[in-house]
Amino acid sequence: MEIVILEEAAELGRLAADAIVALLQHRPGAVLGLATGSSPLPVYDELVRRHEAGEVSFAQARAFTLDEYVGLPPGHPEGYRTVIEREFASRVDLPANALHTPDGAAQDIPAACAAYDAAIAAAGGIDLQILGIGTDGHIAFNEPGSSFASRTRIKTLMHQTRVDNARFFDDDLDAVPVHCLTQGLGTIMEARHVVLLATGEGKAEAVQHLVEGPVSAMWPATILQHHPHATILLDEAAAGRLT
Ligand code: F6R
Repeated sequence: MEIVILEEAAELGRLAADAIVALLQHRPGAVLGLATGSSPLPVYDELVRRHEAGEVSFAQARAFTLDEYVGLPPGHPEGYRTVIEREFASRVDLPANALHTPDGAAQDIPAACAAYDAAIAAAGGIDLQILGIGTDGHIAFNEPGSSFASRTRIKTLMHQTRVDNARFFDDDLDAVPVHCLTQGLGTIMEARHVVLLATGEGKAEAVQHLVEGPVSAMWPATILQHHPHATILLDEAAAGRLT
């Protein structure tokens, strides 16, 4: 793993955007893996800025998101498809049919999850996957105890994750869904390059496990220690517990 410690969240965003722009310049039809939550927002803002400056186009790119809540009404502002459209896809020239998200409203959830993994494979796999990390060490919504071999599937969110995400639901814990669809750890490990961003003291314990801890399903992000090309972008607060 390559660990980069920077002073500000905007700097993390610029470095991650550098990697995406370089990839697209080399391969315009690259497959991007997008995360939601607050950590990647500086990346998306920077990509939008560079797109508006004419430095990068997403017209031939494809994108797959990591996860989606189950049980939110269609078009709910915090549904992850709506979030990624609002924060990124609608602000650049990514074609609407090039954005793929797990279908949290599917009637046949196992079939929808298998179809999602198949769609990623049919696209040739993910070239660059953006990741955040949960305070409990989750990546995507692979909560502690997730199998390292897991594929896209339904999961139950940990209480801590629902508490952490209540800020997106007017601090109403009851409004935060209990279930989600998420790419598995096995799915994520197949991405050719993963770029994880973490900022703030609240992530310091998870980051310590990610970087220094033994690889353990109880801290799912630790599997990235085995990834051949993982870049970990941290601010000083998130890096605060590293020795
Ligand atoms: C979101 C996702 C999650 C978040 C994580 C951190 O698509 O996959 O793993 O990255 O919960 O969330 P933030 O960035 O809001 O702290």
